[in-house]
Amino acid sequence: MPKRIPHEALTVITGRETTEGYLRMQKAMGRFYLRHFLRCLEGLANGGSFLEIGPGPGYQTAIIARRMPGVRITALEYSADMAVLARGYLAEQGVGDRVNVIQGSVEDQPLMRRLGAFDLIYSTFSLHHWEDPVGALRNLHGALKEDGCMLLYDFVRGGPLYHLPLKRGIWESVRASYRPEEIWEMLEGLGMGDYTTGKRYPYLWVTVSR
Ligand SMILES: C[S@@+](CC[C@H](N)C(=O)[O-])C[C@H]1O[C@@H](n2cnc3c(N)ncnc32)[C@H](O)[C@@H]1O
Repeated sequence: MPKRIPHEALTVITGRETTEGYLRMQKAMGRFYLRHFLRCLEGLANGGSFLEIGPGPGYQTAIIARRMPGVRITALEYSADMAVLARGYLAEQGVGDRVNVIQGSVEDQPLMRRLGAFDLIYSTFSLHHWEDPVGALRNLHGALKEDGCMLLYDFVRGGPLYHLPLKRGIWESVRASYRPEEIWEMLEGLGMGDYTTGKRYPYLWVTVSR
């Protein structure tokens, strides 16, 4: 199994230039790399209260809010600079009144408890950044309503992208991501038996029901 190489120091994306660059990348590439995720999400719910972890600038958040007029989204973003950018972008997209962007970490248990309970929790390409994924999964499970569901979508470690001799960018993220077996071990260790995982290189996703 290829060794996991966590992101060097950079677990959150900060700085105006970098965060705005990330939004430009999402505008150019988001419709490709988020297509399958959006299909999975739409198969799980079409409204209610959602919690998103690590929205970044909120590109996918705006798509979801526009496609599902009945949804209310709480978006929890660790990077203060990303949170500011996301609030502006979501307001510009006309969905700012249905999305509440909060700055904080999924690993912060008291904060997660204060957020309440949700019908659907989702996240894209954030899981591999979390320093304590087991603690985060525990917090997320606790934030699901009865019959609620979560969808965590990320890269899968390995394959050709892992081995490319390139440093920054998705190669680094692929090296920091998890293998399905590691996710199974975390979920089973937490007693969360009701899950499924799927893989379509370079993506890996997990759904957990309550
Ligand atoms: C690679 S970006 C993904 C952004 C967007 N979801 C996408 O699909 O492009 C990962 C995001 O997760 C955020 N993040 C990292 N660790 C986090 C944590 N512990 N709690 C909440 N957000 C976190 C980062 O600040 C960053 O904005």
